[in-house]
This record gives sequence, structure tokens and C-alpha cells, in this order.
Amino acid sequence: MSETSVAGPSSGTDLPCVLIVDDDAVTRRFVRAVLEGLGLRIEEASDGERGLALAQELNPNVVILDVTMPGLSGVEVARRLQGDAKVLMLTGVDDPDVEVEAGAAGASAYLVKPFSPRELLDTIEQLVGALDLPDEDVARTQSAAVEAGERQLLIAAEELSDSMRRERERSARLEETLDELRHAYLETVRSLAYVVESKDAYTGQHLERCRVYGMALLREMRLDQELREAEYGFLLHDAGKVGVSERILNKPGPLTATEWRIMRTHPLIGYQMVGGIPFLRAAAEVVRYHHEMFDGSGYPEGLRGAGIPLAARVFSIVDAFDAMTTDRPYREAFPLEQAASELEKMAGTQFDPEIVEVFVPMCERLLPSSSRAAG
Ligand SMILES: [Fe+2]
Repeated sequence: MSETSVAGPSSGTDLPCVLIVDDDAVTRRFVRAVLEGLGLRIEEASDGERGLALAQELNPNVVILDVTMPGLSGVEVARRLQGDAKVLMLTGVDDPDVEVEAGAAGASAYLVKPFSPRELLDTIEQLVGALDLPDEDVARTQSAAVEAGERQLLIAAEELSDSMRRERERSARLEETLDELRHAYLETVRSLAYVVESKDAYTGQHLERCRVYGMALLREMRLDQELREAEYGFLLHDAGKVGVSERILNKPGPLTATEWRIMRTHPLIGYQMVGGIPFLRAAAEVVRYHHEMFDGSGYPEGLRGAGIPLAARVFSIVDAFDAMTTDRPYREAFPLEQAASELEKMAGTQFDPEIVEVFVPMCERLLPSSSRAAG
């Protein structure tokens, strides 16, 4: 007997013989469990070559063949079989072509996985009609088949929970790697943004504060996970200023109409820089629309209301808040209350009133205590 053939408890030379040829050990186990107790001799082989050799040796009544196996396929084994064994073909795919091919190779029956114990029993009874089992044996076999089915389910459930556990472990590792990557990416974006900022006289920690305030506001709105990439947009919002001359950026007096036209291109220049990076799509919207106004009077596209991407609406509020609460060469920082009331005054015109309503009660938490005392 070959190493892959396993004699079951019902083995005996005078019993009808069923040979299971399948490279899948779980299927072999399942078929054996269903057929056990039927008064059959059950033998197994794990590939086509060994199956053929066993068939020659045992001259079985039924050969159960898996269609897809490494080496000889089930169809090929069926073609080469000698003797008068009936062939039951098992397949993982319900493909009429395969069924026709199996029939042409001599298969008498065909089952698509997963099949129920009942289907297998009925098919085997059809093929080994001479068995003529007494009714009580049939009843006993049916309940054995139900048990076998349950065992099969249990095996499948164990395998599933095992692979889910492995998947969870893998996801946790992946999440960690992504966090590290994200951190590295943020650092790169931060340095890029600071390069841009250094061209502008309006410096200090403006970018970093916009990022912190913007993310705090998104957290308050419970959108910090959904819009987490907006963080890059808060840092990069003025990236397009690399395309505007320093003379215009730092001009002390008012800008001419032409200078304004040039200045107003910076959201689109920035968008061209980052818009093609899939990872930065949400950020690119902040860059492109950070000068839009709620009433439609902003630029570059004059979008209004909810037509302005949400992260950009959030940004314009925190950007204005930071501008008002920091010292400028021409004026001192506004006290907190004044900044908050300016935001409320411009709710509905410059800013999204619903977001202002969320931001005003929380903005005091954002400022260092020294700034709050300034008023
Ligand atoms: Fe800007």
C-alpha cells in the first residue's frame, strides 16, 4: 500500500471499494467521513499517479477524482483508468466545458465543491447500486453524514478563525508601517512647506499652528480620521507661492491689479504641484480652495457654500484665526474675544457658519495662556 493510501476501519477485500484521489486532504477527510459506515472499503491517494497505481492494484468499484491536481489531472486519470470502475468527478468550478470533458473521459457523475454529505451519498448510492443497503443502515449512514458535515463545518470554522487571526496580526503590522511612513511623509511635507514659508515675510510658526488648529477642529467635528490627509493641505496651502515673485509677496504697499492677478494664481500653482499625488488628494483640495469664500466671492473659482471642499472651509477659519491672534508688523495680535467675534461676524459671508459655531467655543483651548491674557 502506498504511503498516501490509508485503509479505513471498513477495509476488507470482499467489500465494494471506493478510491478517493484528491490532492486536498480536507476533501479526502470529508469524503471518508461521509462514506464511513456504509460497508465500503475506502482508500485514498493524494495525486493522479498514485491514484492510477492504486486503481490498478485494487480494481475499485468507484474512483472519486478531483479535476484539478498537480501532475496528472482528474480528467487524465479517468482517461487512463482500466477496468470497470465508475468515476465520480469533483471540481471546484461549475464549468459546463469541464463537465463535458469529464464525461468524454468516462466520468459517470460530477459534483461541484462544496457539496453536501447528502449529495455525495446519493451519488455513491447511484454508482454502487449493488450495495443494496438495509433501511436501518441508510438511516444510520444519514445521521453519520450529518455528523460528518458538522465536523467538516467545524474544521472549516477553525481554519477560518486561524486565517482571520493571521490576517489581524498582518494588518496590525501593516498599520504600524503605514504610521511610520505617514510620519516620515509628514516630515518631508513640513520641510517643503517651511521652504515656501521662508519666502514670505509673514513667517513664524504660522504653518504649524494652522496644522494644529485645523486638526483640532476636525477632531471636534469627528472628521479627523476621514479627512486625515487634510493635515498635509494645512501645511502646504501656500506651496504655490514658490511661483510668485518675492517682490510681490513681500511688497510693503498695496498690490496693483496685475500683481493681484499674479498673487491669486498661487492656489492653482500649488494644486499643480500636489494634485497629481493620489496620497495628497484631500490636501490638494485645501491647497486649491483655501481662498474660496462661503458666499462665493473668493478665488480661484468663486465656489460657494458646501460646494467648497470641507477641509478648505475648515482651513480658512483656522488660517484667519491665526492671522488675527498673532502680532503683525503693522498691528498687535487681537485679543481672543475680538478674534472670535470677528469670525462670528464673517460667518455666512467668508466662513461656513456651522463650522464657526463649532470652532468658537473650542478656540480658547488652542491659544497659549499668555496670548489669552493679552486681551
Ligand atoms: Fe494662500
